[in-house]
Amino acid sequence: MCGIVGIVGDKATARAVVDGLKRLEYRGYDSAGMVLASNVGFEVKRISQDTSSVALLDDWVNAKEVEKVSAAMGHTRWATHGRPSEINAHPHLDCSNQFAVVHNGIVENYKEIRERLLKLGHEFASDTDTEVIVHLVEERFRLNNDVHQAVSEAFEELEGSMAVVVLNLKEPDSLYMMRRMAPLVIGTDLDNLFVASDVPALLDSVTTYFSVPEDTLITGSVRRGKVVLEPVPEVLEVDWDISKVDVGGYSDFMSKEIDEQPRALRDTLAGRVDKVGVISLDELKISPEELKTVQKIVIVGCGTSLHAGMVARYALEHFVRVPVEIEVSSEFRYRDPVLSPTTLVVGVSQSGETLDTMMALSEARASGARTLVISNVVGSSMARMADAVLYTRAGPEISVASTKTFVAQIGALEILALYLADLKRTLFPSEVQELIAKLNDVPNALSEAISSISDYEKTTQTLLGYERFYFIGRNVGYPVALEGALKLKEITYTPSEGYPAGELKHGPIAMIDDKAVVVAIASKSALYEKLLANVEEVRARGAKVVIVANEAPVDSKLRGDEVFLVPRVHQLFSPMVDVVPLQVMAHYISVSRGLDPDRPRNLAKTVTVE
Ligand code: G6P
Repeated sequence: MCGIVGIVGDKATARAVVDGLKRLEYRGYDSAGMVLASNVGFEVKRISQDTSSVALLDDWVNAKEVEKVSAAMGHTRWATHGRPSEINAHPHLDCSNQFAVVHNGIVENYKEIRERLLKLGHEFASDTDTEVIVHLVEERFRLNNDVHQAVSEAFEELEGSMAVVVLNLKEPDSLYMMRRMAPLVIGTDLDNLFVASDVPALLDSVTTYFSVPEDTLITGSVRRGKVVLEPVPEVLEVDWDISKVDVGGYSDFMSKEIDEQPRALRDTLAGRVDKVGVISLDELKISPEELKTVQKIVIVGCGTSLHAGMVARYALEHFVRVPVEIEVSSEFRYRDPVLSPTTLVVGVSQSGETLDTMMALSEARASGARTLVISNVVGSSMARMADAVLYTRAGPEISVASTKTFVAQIGALEILALYLADLKRTLFPSEVQELIAKLNDVPNALSEAISSISDYEKTTQTLLGYERFYFIGRNVGYPVALEGALKLKEITYTPSEGYPAGELKHGPIAMIDDKAVVVAIASKSALYEKLLANVEEVRARGAKVVIVANEAPVDSKLRGDEVFLVPRVHQLFSPMVDVVPLQVMAHYISVSRGLDPDRPRNLAKTVTVE
């Protein structure tokens, strides 16, 4: 959702900004723009052509003469206030053309600020909430003639969660940067200043990264070739490199990221257990003694992250013997949940910036509960606010549809389950060790599943003409069914639903006919026979049946069912391999319909609004 790139110094060029914006495309957008400023003037370009906007901005840059500028600032907009249009695209300027602003998030009190500014004679060019920021800065500057003071006062008035960067067009050697519950990262090399919504935008230029503290105005300037940050923010350790945000030899990021899953899981599991078998978390601001007292776990998340949490519930309840509740973040925070200091609220979030999950965690903290975050981004907002953090080490995920981070999240949550079971002694140390060994086998099983991708694709070819897809599973197969349906919906726009197999007869079965595909997650478990009975019910009603199994049911060929064969692992860990054919299936259908699997319509990778 909205991407920001700003550069001051020799490297401030239109090309560098557009290249940065390209690396933020995964965030989702419908328009784009940039401002180029030098001591003799400035130029603004805005384009609103949906997901072609960045490519068109790129064409504009290519056709343009390369000129020397002091500062360049670009933006991809995901419309919230005001429809996607050139006028509503950022950057926005004040009446006197002195300031330019780019913004991600929502200014909740924009209406009252706008009314006040209108009365004071300000003229607005757009319908956005963003534009009030720049007029507010102008207004404050008119009163105190001090840019830093003006920006600081303006920021103080803004309500909501947001990341904002202001450029003084009359003196384009500085950027004014602020964030509140929205991502923003600063970078420097020897003599350039950079700011962006996310690290991938900066990977080819920056040598040192800094995290922007909440609600603190940071002024960055480049004067006489020297970068000055005021106040100096905390350095952010980033171990991603440019190859990780490059599509390499793949046709799209989603297929690259599906392929990277064994590595993502292996890296997430690596180094968590020391020589004497003690499991460690990454950042623990609460003592293990306190964690031992946990009586209830609540998992919150959105989308794929929620599904990873749902998978982990089975291991947490089974191994740790504490009740586990799971809830969509946006619902959790408004239902007055019963929490106490012995409740552990686990937020699962790839980005660590999803506003609903962040707000759910902040509610949890306010109610006295302990919080733990599973995040893929070191130093993300959630990681900073939680009592404990466990990082997934999947590397940057660019495709909007999550794949490798799902698998890595489950891996991290299984580690958490074993950590707590060890602390609470609900498992013997030898059992913990045995389970860790089984968990460490999963990356190899994942590689085996990945080596079957062409078989999965061949099977998918038989499904191309169907109208509707239903995914069913029992136990850990149920969240896999939800995830399979989500993937298909996200990148192919095909009606698809996931259900617990036992629920079929309470409604969904009415939808079953010969235009429907039913995908059953049927890895061998105690509930295998029951699941196959559910499969019988839909087959009898004309559905095309596809079975995800670690052992093909004996009669499947005879009955004309399709089978996605996956390797066998411990049942509680099976979602990590069972999901692979479902990801491949969604990807294959998306590409065969001529769609872009990396950039589905209407979706954003990081959702920083409620
Ligand atoms: C969006 C993305 C999903 C993602 C969800 C949660 O909806 O499109 O892929 O699962 O947000 O994101 P998070 O960063 O919190 O895991």
